Amino acid sequence: MVQMTNHRRHLHPLPVRIMHWVNAVTIFIMITSGWKIYNDEVLFGWLHFPEALTLGKWAQHGLQWHFFGMWILVIDGLSYLTYGLVSGRFRRMLLPIRLSDLIATVKDTLHLKLSHDDPTKYNAIQKLLYVGVISVGILTVISGLAIWKPIQFSELVALFGSFQNARLVHFFCMSAIVAFVTVHVALALLVPQTLVSMFTGGPVVDDQRSAELQHKTAH
Ligand code: HEM
Repeated sequence: MVQMTNHRRHLHPLPVRIMHWVNAVTIFIMITSGWKIYNDEVLFGWLHFPEALTLGKWAQHGLQWHFFGMWILVIDGLSYLTYGLVSGRFRRMLLPIRLSDLIATVKDTLHLKLSHDDPTKYNAIQKLLYVGVISVGILTVISGLAIWKPIQFSELVALFGSFQNARLVHFFCMSAIVAFVTVHVALALLVPQTLVSMFTGGPVVDDQRSAELQHKTAH
């Protein structure tokens, strides 16, 4: 659908900035407390997380932190999804992801040509990573619900095949998020301008114009 009204707003409007930073702190709580709980009953005998990197004095305390973070994560996540869909931000900033753009961006990256000359647009790799981590975040919450209340959410457990499978999925989602955050934070530090924008809001952009520009470059 073509948007007819012109909206001028910051590249990262205030709600996005608030939700992003609340999410960053909450993910930190979820991962470190999750590692505490994991250490109490490991999935892989060879893998124990260093106690210094875990949150909570003991497993039960880690669990309390995990449940505390869970509510914030779900409320913040649902707010972000609703905002992204209703305001058109997902359509404007994260979609579409074209295979040809992906190939071109990968080629540029391999030739170390990745310029950030237009900081108001995400490149195809960024779009893919953001849509990917949002999807993994949703799967993490669903698998977490299945492990948390396996009786009440028995259909969810069935969806994963078994309780143990749901645990595995939850674990692999955590691993993917840790991998994403590592790359994401490294890139943010490499291109500090983007980091500043996530605090200040960044340049003021014209939604209609950027939608038109995207439309033109696509044809
Ligand atoms: C200290 C940790 C973090 C830092 C420094 C950071 C930094 C940033 C920056 C600078 C941007 C804007 C990128 C740009 O304009 O090119 C961004 C966007 C984003 N970040 Fe993070 N981030 C952090 C944690 C996280 C975490 C934990 C997640 C999710 C698991 C996440 C998910 C996202 C997503 C989905 C976007 C795109 C948001 C949108 O445009 O609607 N970030 N982040």
